[in-house]
Amino acid sequence: MATATLELQGLNFNLSEEHLAVQEAARDFAQNELLPGIVERDNEARFPAEQVKRMGELGFLGMMVSPEYGGGGMDTVSYVLAMEEISKVDASSSVIMSVNNSLVCWGLETYGSEAQKQKYLTKLATGEMIGAFCLSEPEAGSDATSQQTTAEDKGDYYLLNGTKNWITNGNSSGVALVIAQTDREKKHRGINCLIVEKGSPGFTVGKKEDKMGIRASDTHSLLFTDVQVPKENRIGDDGFGFKFAMSTLNGGRIGIAAQALGIAAGAYELSLNYAQERKAFGKQIFDHQAIQFKLAEMATKIEAARLLVYKAARLKDEHKDYVQAAAMAKLYASEVAMWATTEAVQIHGGYGYVKEFHVERMMRDAKITQIYEGTSEIQKLVIARELVH
Ligand code: CAA
Repeated sequence: MATATLELQGLNFNLSEEHLAVQEAARDFAQNELLPGIVERDNEARFPAEQVKRMGELGFLGMMVSPEYGGGGMDTVSYVLAMEEISKVDASSSVIMSVNNSLVCWGLETYGSEAQKQKYLTKLATGEMIGAFCLSEPEAGSDATSQQTTAEDKGDYYLLNGTKNWITNGNSSGVALVIAQTDREKKHRGINCLIVEKGSPGFTVGKKEDKMGIRASDTHSLLFTDVQVPKENRIGDDGFGFKFAMSTLNGGRIGIAAQALGIAAGAYELSLNYAQERKAFGKQIFDHQAIQFKLAEMATKIEAARLLVYKAARLKDEHKDYVQAAAMAKLYASEVAMWATTEAVQIHGGYGYVKEFHVERMMRDAKITQIYEGTSEIQKLVIARELVH
C-alpha cells in the first residue's frame, strides 16, 4: 500500500529517501518490538514501559523537535508516516507517542520560553520522560472553554485547583501541561497553560480508566489541590492558555488522523492476507465477490484518508493554514478506521471475534479516534467555520 509519489491540488507529495527510511524503521519496530505481547498488554491493560523506552531511544518521541533540544528535527510528513506504521500494530503505543510529540513537545517548542525548553523539552524529546496534556474535565470535554480548574494568580506563583479527566499518560508522565482558568470574567481569554511537575505537593494521580480500547495506554484523572506552580512555568503571555490549547490541538489532530489511518490500514492488511488463506465453498474467500468488494472499498477509503493526512501534514510543513485540513483528515480517517475495522472483523468471521487475530482489538481501538482530540462532531464544526472564514 505504500505510495511513493502523490500529487494533489498542486501539493507535491514526493516522499524522500529519508521519509521512506523513517517509514521502514517504524514498520520494523512495530513488527519486531510492539507486536510481541500485544494481546497480553491489551488484556491486562498494562502500560508498554519497555516499548516506550525503546521509542525514546529510536527517536520516535520527539520526532519534530529541533536537534538543539534533543529531537529528530524531522518534518510532519515523517511523523505521520511513523504514526501510521506504529498504529497498524499498536494504537496504545501510538497514542502515547502522539500526545508526547504533537501536543506536549510541539506546544513547548512553539510557545515555551528558552528556559522551559532547556528544562523540560530536552527530556521530553528524548523520552527521558513523557508528558501529558490536560484540557478535558468532568464538565468540559467538547465545550473546552468551560474550564472549572482554577489557576489563581498569587504574585510569583499560581495556586492550582481542580480535576482533569481522561488524561493520556496520566500516571506515566513526568510533567503535565495543565489548562486552567485564571480570570473568569475574561472567559477563554483568562485561561492559562501551566507546566506542572509530577511530585508537586497537592498533585495526585486519580483513578485509572478501564477502557474499551487503547487499553495499554494509561488514562487517568489528575487532581490538583492547592498546587503552587511558579510563574515561570506559564506558557506564553497571561491569558494565552486557550489559544495554546486550540493551536496545539490543530496539529495533534494530524497525529490522531495518522493513528486512525494506521489502525484502518493494519486491519485491511490482515484482512487481505486472511482472505487469501481462508477457504470456503471450495475456494479462497478472496475469490468470492462479497469479500473482494469489501476489500476494494477498504483500500479505496484508506487511500483517500491517507491523501487527507499527507495533505494536512504537508500544509503544516509548508507553514500554510492547516486547521481545516487537519480537521478533515481526522474526521475522515477516524470514520474510515471505525468502518474498516468492523469490516475486517466481518471478513475474519468467527476468528475475527477472538483476540489472537487482532482485528477485534483494532475495532475497539478505532472507536476512540472518533472521540479524542475533538469528536467527529467538533471536527465538523471546525470545518464548517473554516468554510466561511
Ligand atoms: N485554532 C486556533 N484558535 C482557535 C481554534 C482553532 N482551531 N478554535 C478556536 N480558536 C480560538 C478562537 O479564535 C477564539 O479566540 P479569540 O476569541 O481570541 O479570537 C477562541 O479560541 C474561542 O473560540 P470560539 O469562540 O470559537 O469558542 P467555542 O467555545 O465556540 O468553540 C471549540 C471552541 C472549537 C468547540 C473548542 O472548544 C474545541 O475545539 N473543543 C474540542 C476540545 C478538544 O479537542 N478536546 C480534546 C482534549 S485533548 C485530548 O483528547 C488529548 C488526549 O489525551 C489524546
